[in-house]
Amino acid sequence: MKKEKKSQASWGGRFSKSISDLMLDFSESVSFDSALARFDIQGSAAHAQMLAHSGIISKKECSAIIGGLKKISKAIDEGKFVWDKSLEDVHMNIEQALTKIEPAAAKLHTARSRNDQIATDMRLFIKYACSKLRENISKAMSVLLDLAEKNIDILIPGYTHMQRAQPVSVAHHLLAWVEMLARDAERFAFAADGANVSPLGSGAIAGTTLPIDRAFSARLLGFTDTVSGDPVLTGNSMDAVADRDAHMEFAFACALLGTHISRIAEDIVIWNTSEFAFIKLPDEFTTGSSLMPQKKNPDSFELMRGKSARLFANLSSLFMLLKGLPLTYNRDLQEDKPPVFDSFRQSLILLEVLAASMKLATFDRAQCAQAVSDPLLLATDLADYFVKKGVPFRKAHHIVGELVALSESKKIPINELDDAEIFSRCQNADKTWRETFNLKKALEMRENTGMPGKRQTVSQINSWRAYLRENTKA
Ligand code: ARG
Repeated sequence: MKKEKKSQASWGGRFSKSISDLMLDFSESVSFDSALARFDIQGSAAHAQMLAHSGIISKKECSAIIGGLKKISKAIDEGKFVWDKSLEDVHMNIEQALTKIEPAAAKLHTARSRNDQIATDMRLFIKYACSKLRENISKAMSVLLDLAEKNIDILIPGYTHMQRAQPVSVAHHLLAWVEMLARDAERFAFAADGANVSPLGSGAIAGTTLPIDRAFSARLLGFTDTVSGDPVLTGNSMDAVADRDAHMEFAFACALLGTHISRIAEDIVIWNTSEFAFIKLPDEFTTGSSLMPQKKNPDSFELMRGKSARLFANLSSLFMLLKGLPLTYNRDLQEDKPPVFDSFRQSLILLEVLAASMKLATFDRAQCAQAVSDPLLLATDLADYFVKKGVPFRKAHHIVGELVALSESKKIPINELDDAEIFSRCQNADKTWRETFNLKKALEMRENTGMPGKRQTVSQINSWRAYLRENTKA
């Protein structure tokens, strides 16, 4: 008995049997690409307008199509649209639903293939995702700036090799995170710019014989040069349907954002240990142990660290997918969406959790003061003092090394050594050598660009605030 054909009205003409249920399960993408619905509808509306503008369909057919798309969009928003996996993907689900309510929809796919359609949808999605992530980055930056301002007078040791190195302010450390996030914001702007090119009209691989106007639909979809306002079009129909660079640039920006957030999270996990105890994390973003009643674990930060792994893995999946893939479209490319969507969702929530948890975090003044009181944090400043007294730096470094060893063997802090020990090693030294260990003064001497002095820090905070005002305006 001949198996009844189940679906695929759009490409079923040459087939006598329908595709197997197994193949349907295996090949459907609507379970994840329905996330593209609003972009698919936007793309179809622009395409229909372009077809009408070029005289390929009538104005009446165009408005019928657009009216139908609006109804579908409403049904999707209200959760009333029924996605049917036997229709494969988002494109066919929407087109078939549209054809049921508007016969004119049978003309919508004129001069278009799902290959340029998906390339268009994803470019629209990536532009949207970049702007959402930029918003969330700005929010996280602004929370960190508030926290920096609130704790502007608290000093802590800065670390290299996880060893106490030199004193910095909490604000200076937080501003380092702000710098990282600002670079991420710029990276998403770059990724959005890469996606800002219209592939629509490239067809399946070689364009179309119909007299379309690619610039017209590009303009409608906002694929325009940010400076000149001119439409931006892909230059080669084969590359247009095969190219996934925008996906990769987006996934890379997410992976690097994740790497940054994981480093921030690790700093916080360390600061939150009983051994450091610089920071107090809010109950809302910590969890208890089912066994040990005293525990308050920084799970949110551990997850920030952990989730960065999958952001990198998503980028790596895309590399694997694209490597060696012949031009042009191959169905492998359907697998380009889950990593991009996952990177977007995870990056979005990572930033939200970072902002929300840091909003409630507080610093322990006493613990920080205790940790930064170690005079050895200013050993380098003592070397600088000798340099100012005419000693070459290498020699000054050596002298301070000797003094550190001496203080260790005498079991007294370095700044309590006898003057004679200093004067015998540097003839120009005077009694002011001990002032080197005044923390406040040490910070006041660090007011050059990018340094942790307070005036410098305040001006950095102000310029980041101005940057955020500028960026949220756009
Ligand atoms: N669902 C498909 C994808 O995401 C859409 C393009 C299908 N094109 C094709 N020639 N089968 O890649």
